[in-house]
Amino acid sequence: MTDRHDLPAGFRWGVSTAAYQVEGAVDEDGRGRSVWDAFCERPGAVKDGESGRVACDHYRRWPQDVGLMRELGVDGYRFSIAWPRVRPTGRGPVNPAGLDFYDRLVDGLLDAGVTPLPTLFHWDLPQALEDGGGWLRRETAFLFAEYAGAVADRLGDRVPAWITLNEPFVHMVYGYALGVHAPGRALMLDALPAAHHQLLAHGLAAAELRARGLGVLVANNLTPVRAASDAPGDRAAADAYDTLHNRLFTDPLLLGRYPDLSAYGVGPDLRGAVRDGDLDLVSGPGLDGLGVNYYNPTRIAAPTEPGLPFAEAPIEGVPRTHFGWPVVPEGLHELLLTLRERYGAALPPITVTENGCSTGDGVDDAFRIDYLAGHLDALARASADGIDVRGYYTWSLLDNFEWAEGYSQRFGLVHVDFATQRRTPKCSFAWYRDLIAAHRTKSAAR
Ligand code: FCB
Repeated sequence: MTDRHDLPAGFRWGVSTAAYQVEGAVDEDGRGRSVWDAFCERPGAVKDGESGRVACDHYRRWPQDVGLMRELGVDGYRFSIAWPRVRPTGRGPVNPAGLDFYDRLVDGLLDAGVTPLPTLFHWDLPQALEDGGGWLRRETAFLFAEYAGAVADRLGDRVPAWITLNEPFVHMVYGYALGVHAPGRALMLDALPAAHHQLLAHGLAAAELRARGLGVLVANNLTPVRAASDAPGDRAAADAYDTLHNRLFTDPLLLGRYPDLSAYGVGPDLRGAVRDGDLDLVSGPGLDGLGVNYYNPTRIAAPTEPGLPFAEAPIEGVPRTHFGWPVVPEGLHELLLTLRERYGAALPPITVTENGCSTGDGVDDAFRIDYLAGHLDALARASADGIDVRGYYTWSLLDNFEWAEGYSQRFGLVHVDFATQRRTPKCSFAWYRDLIAAHRTKSAAR
């Protein structure tokens, strides 16, 4: 039986975080305000009125955190760069002190033998840009590319590969369609221009990175979609959901076209956002890798009320994380095989850029060990089935600020006591360390 120890030689092991979830220091060294700073101030927006104001204080404690990564023996650290640290209002002059932080972090990582894998946008848009329309406005895409170029000019000599965007699907849906994340707009389908402008931003930034000889990935949240039954209504609904969640962002990147959104009553111009030539800008630069953030499959039934062409149905009979998310490791294998079937030779190598689970407070996290083992075994099976899988970055190194859930969902291999900032490795930390070491030994012997 193929298992996680059979992942290919050269497979890269890593951990993931994101700026607003770990850094804190929101007023430090000239950082501008982000949409998350503003959103957290809205009464009721975030559980217990929490915010990322302090978070894990990674901005100051990063040397200790890099020490933890060295102990784990990971190959890579996926973190994100806060746009408002680099360009506080999203445009205009670069703030050198903001870039200095990432410069120090990159050097610290390299000293520890850990390759930096930065994400340029993990949802913390400068509030000044949101005030001008945010991702609903086309200009934001061009400003993103300028920012990407400025960061790459500073760090590109030491950072070989970059992730442009994190989960543009989740950002569009939660941030602009439903309003449960920053910037808190509830526009439903009128949020679709935020999909196109993020994709355009990716393409323009990818061109900047490529022009500097750098590698480009994008990370999206993907889910295998299962129809609640074989009834035609359920199957059509599952198809419509799959189009929105999985294909809306992947088809333009890999195929240079939008999927058919007619189930939503939306034409190929995404409510007027798409202009001639845009799709060439999105897909033209190409991708060195597709980042897959996988947490769970989705079960879909026909809608019971007017509005959207689908309804979410519960997945029964499986364990659930502290968050309540169903645990279905096989879904990762299924997802990767579906991607290959769908995109064939256009599918770039896969890196799992996020996967993990929240558990209760404490360091005894046998649940997480099972979760990770199951998903890594599924990934190894996908690899044995011929999918080119290059790496796995677990979410997350540290317990951190989990967006609208505040500090109530703990995803870390390392426990953080938020009152004292004390870090304590959980049981899964030692397990992951030992797995990485065992895999290296086995690969060396092959
Ligand atoms: C993903 C996000 C990441 C984290 C995990 C749990 O959707 O990209 O920041 O919150 O979920």
